Amino acid sequence: METKQQDSEEENPFLDYREDTADEWMRAVYRMYTRQKQREAADAAEGREFCPVEEGISAGGRIACLKSWGVPERILKNLEGLNETKAVKYVREFNLSPREGWCLVLSGGKGTGKSTAAAVWLYENVPPEGAPTYQTRYWWNGTKVARTNGYAKDYERMIQSKLMVIDDLGVEYQDKNGNFQQRLDELIDERYSNFKKTIITTNLNAEAFKDRYGERVADRMREGFAWGGGFMELSDDSMRKVRKVR
Ligand SMILES: Nc1ncnc2c1ncn2[C@@H]1O[C@H](COP(=O)(O)OP(=O)(O)OP(=O)(O)O)[C@@H](O)[C@H]1O
Ligand SMILES: [Mg+2]
Repeated sequence: METKQQDSEEENPFLDYREDTADEWMRAVYRMYTRQKQREAADAAEGREFCPVEEGISAGGRIACLKSWGVPERILKNLEGLNETKAVKYVREFNLSPREGWCLVLSGGKGTGKSTAAAVWLYENVPPEGAPTYQTRYWWNGTKVARTNGYAKDYERMIQSKLMVIDDLGVEYQDKNGNFQQRLDELIDERYSNFKKTIITTNLNAEAFKDRYGERVADRMREGFAWGGGFMELSDDSMRKVRKVR
């Protein structure tokens, strides 16, 4: 049987961005990922069930790391016993996209697993040796971004950070004179210009998103989608357990 050789970067839609970055941390995460894949292939070749080997920092260490990156406890506790939901699948694909595919939007109704999937993405990018300092915040929610002043240190961090999750964008209050809109515009523009991987979760659908944040923001995102990421609409029903009130 003939198999298609994927030897050039252009031909390979799944060039892992961690491979093409100069960043030592991302390369280390990539090496770990590659070893995992090799074990998986070896197990498959010998008919064994694949049993992933925990490498690098322990699960507990990763959770501690995520906590210091600002992931809320409510989301952290979801990270045990996960199913491969659509949202999780999308973030894993996003991890394999080149840097140019810098943005993934998870859009959908309440409880479709968007925030959990965003946390899975951070979890899988915890550096293997453990980062020496976890001082940076990678997890922000829309409201917090809206409240941050454009001259604040936090805003600079949002622009610079290697990874960023903006959780629940769309619920924040929009001031009448468009200050937030302008800041978001600049933030997106900076992250777009420097290929800084960004995941946004929102309850807005693509149309409402564009109406709210404007053509310029939508355009910056769309450009990256050709390489990876995308505006993913999740239509699954809510997975949140509802406690019946009698
Ligand atoms: N991959 C998963 N496997 C199993 N359960 C999950 C998974 N993802 C989410 N859940 C469950 O679904 C619930 C809702 O998840 P989550 O908070 O991520 O949804 P959401 O889409 O961010 O919702 P909202 O729009 O309200 O913010 C969680 O309480 C969690 O228990
Ligand atoms: Mg959420």
